Parts: sequence; C-alpha cells; structure tokens
Amino acid sequence: MTFSRMALSGPMKRRILLSLCFLCVLLLCLFNGWQRSFNGPPPVNPISTCRSNCSSNKTTVTILLWHRPFNTPLSLEGDVCWDLYHIPRCRLVDQRSFLSSADVVVFHNRELMSGHQKLPVDSPRPQGQRWAWMSLEAPVHNGDLRRFAHMFNMTMSYRRDADIPIPYGELLPKEADGQLTEDVPLNKTTLVCWVVSNYNRYQKRSKVYKELKATVDVKVYGRWTKKPLPSEDLLPTISRCYFYLAFENSLSKDYITEKLWKNAYLGRAVPVVLGPQLSDYQAVAPPNSFIHVDQFPSVRELGKYLQSLAEDKKHYSDYFNWKLKWSVKLHTDWRERLCKICPQYNRLPEQKVYSDLQAWVNADSA
Ligand SMILES: *[C@@H]1O[C@H](CO)[C@@H](O)[C@H](O)[C@H]1NC(C)=O
Ligand SMILES: *[C@@H]1O[C@H](CO)[C@@H](O)[C@H](O)[C@H]1NC(C)=O
Ligand SMILES: *[C@@H]1O[C@H](CO)[C@@H](O)[C@H](O)[C@H]1NC(C)=O
Ligand SMILES: *[C@@H]1O[C@H](CO)[C@@H](O)[C@H](O)[C@H]1NC(C)=O
Repeated sequence: MTFSRMALSGPMKRRILLSLCFLCVLLLCLFNGWQRSFNGPPPVNPISTCRSNCSSNKTTVTILLWHRPFNTPLSLEGDVCWDLYHIPRCRLVDQRSFLSSADVVVFHNRELMSGHQKLPVDSPRPQGQRWAWMSLEAPVHNGDLRRFAHMFNMTMSYRRDADIPIPYGELLPKEADGQLTEDVPLNKTTLVCWVVSNYNRYQKRSKVYKELKATVDVKVYGRWTKKPLPSEDLLPTISRCYFYLAFENSLSKDYITEKLWKNAYLGRAVPVVLGPQLSDYQAVAPPNSFIHVDQFPSVRELGKYLQSLAEDKKHYSDYFNWKLKWSVKLHTDWRERLCKICPQYNRLPEQKVYSDLQAWVNADSA
C-alpha cells in the first residue's frame, strides 16, 4: 500500500501535510545545529555583533594592560577595539594611573614569572575590579603559580574553559557555503613533513617520529636538522607534503598551537596531530580535517594508513572538504585578545577568585 493510493479526506491531508512540514523544519534545525558545531567552535557572541547602540546599556569597559607580553610593541592609540575588531565600548589602556579605575587589569604571566614585573598588591584594589591572569604557554612553562593563590578573578588562556578563551587559531563558519576557492592541492612531492627546532628525544613526539620513520619516509626541516626554513618558505614547503606532523611539544588539555592552524591548515597539508586527546581536537576542528595519532593501534598502522591515503586521490581530497564550510582564523595580536574581554564582560560571574591557580592551570596536563 502506498500513500498515493490511500483515499484521504481534505482535513486529514492538511494535517498530514502540516505534520510533514513540521518534521522538515525540525530536521533542518537539527541538521543545521549539528553542522555549525562539531561541539564547537564556541557560538558567535551576540554582543560583539552589536554596533554602537545596543539594548544593553553598559558604559565603556576599561582594560588596563599592566605590562606588555614579551615587550611586544602595541599601539593603543585611538579606539583600538572598535577600529580593528568592531568591538564597541572597550577601552584599552596601559597607563598605570588607571589602576584605581580600570574594570579589568591584565597581567601576562611570563614577566611575573621572571620577576621583571610584580602584582601591585600594595595598592588598594577598587571594588569590583577584576585581575586577569593571561598566558598562552603550556602548564610546564608557566612556573610555580602557588604564590598567586587568591589573587586573580579571571583567566585568559588557550583553554576552552578559561574565562576568556584565547586560542591560537580557530575555524569560522563561512558566510555562504562556498566552493573550494582553490583546487585540492595535489601537486605533492613528499609524503610526510615535519618542522622541528627543539628536538628532545625524551618527548613523546620524538618517539612517534622515530617509529613513523621506520614505516614511511619523513622529511624533517628546522633547526634540529640544520635545515631551518625562512618564514616565507614555510608554507610553500609544507604545501608540497601530503601530511604535516603537527606535533605539539607539550601534551596538555586544549594546547593546540599554530602548528595546526597555520602550518598544516594554511600550508594545505593534512595534519597528523599529536597533543591533547582526540576529543579536544574534535571540539575545535571538523571531522576529516586531521588525523590523530591515537586513532591507530600503533604508529606502524598510522604509517600504513598515510601511505594508502596518499595513493587514493579521492579519499585524500576528502580531507579538504571542510574548507567549503570553514575558514581559518589565526590569532596573533595581543590587542585582539584583550578586546575580547569586553563582549564577555557582562557575563563574567559577579564574584570569582582563583583560590588555587596552580591547580587550575595544571588540571589534566600530561
Ligand atoms: C545611543 O544611545 C545614547 C544613549 O542611550 C543616545 O544618546 C544616542 O543618541 C544613541 N545614538 C544612536 C546613534 O542611536
Ligand atoms: C542606561 O544608562 C543610564 C545611565 O547611564 C541609566 O540611568 C539607565 O537605567 C540604563 N538603562 C538600562 C536599561 O540599563
Ligand atoms: C608542482 O610542483 C613542481 C615542483 O615543486 C613545480 O615545479 C610546479 O610548478 C608545480 N605545479 C603547480 C601547478 O603548482
Ligand atoms: C577579585 O579577587 C579579589 C582577591 O581575592 C577579591 O577580593 C575580589 O572580591 C574579587 N573580585 C571579583 C569581582 O570577583
């Protein structure tokens, strides 16, 4: 029996049609939601898209950068957050006289760690002012943070669970489902490439490299092999490789650096990743855009897979389909990271103290 054969009354037909419509809409919603987020990236902030006058009527947020990260020169002239990032009512300052009035004071960890800078603990802290701890380093490079217990109200880090997440890069959904603006790169001469400056044979990535090399050819660049790549040669070199070893030197929760976002994704090689666990990558990168070392029972199996994938053009090119929906955004400017505080500001918990920063930073790091 088919639907077309069934004799149905008018109202019945309408009801079925209505139900079908409803179902379609529901499915569309589900499908869309699923596509937008392979668990992430985090939703676009509604406040950041609002121009000069929003319904919420918060006055300007003042952010005081206590010292410059790594002494990086940064111009804070003008309305930086609006001019560069279209973030309204967000003032970045570096004059310490703002300590008595700033809403947020940001301290970059490196200079605190080295002792070149100190927290202004002797000045009274204005009511409601928040101190932010900022670092992009893996836990092992943040020093001993126990002396900072009960000092900070918020964290800024690549961690997704930081109060202000400041990842090294991210994928942003493309406006319209695009076509590939470039052909799938198939002009490849090398199977696997790796760029490494500081080789340490005790690191996990070195062990994996050695095992992989026993199965397939791996071409190594960088200071370690005395084949340093000038920065303008980096991406062209990587683009001639089928696979790029985006191996992090530290294996820690969410620690995914430009090795993935820039070297592999922009270098147009398929990333083979080693770093945090698979689910951390899955939260920020679409399926079939990378290969995780842990997805194989052994490095030998991984090598065999890479070899077979390179020989199967169709299957290999599937690893570039994500580019239809996503574009890579690298984050390199400290000012953008600071401006990011403002759209989140009104959503920060009213009261929060990191009573054990050391424990928070070292959570779940291997
Ligand atoms: C924005 O809001 C302020 C105060 O609410 C108002 O005085 C001003 O005219 C508004 N500006 C625009 C362009 O709507
Ligand atoms: C907007 O700001 C003005 C003064 O700055 C205040 O009086 C008013 O209550 C605010 N309105 C809202 C909806 O927050
Ligand atoms: C492919 O690579 C070779 C060698 O690197 C180069 O000479 C050639 O111009 C490339 N072709 C294209 C279409 O990029
Ligand atoms: C920030 O931390 C300080 C020091 O622990 C605390 O006294 C203050 O109440 C906190 N402020 C906020 C807004 O959480």
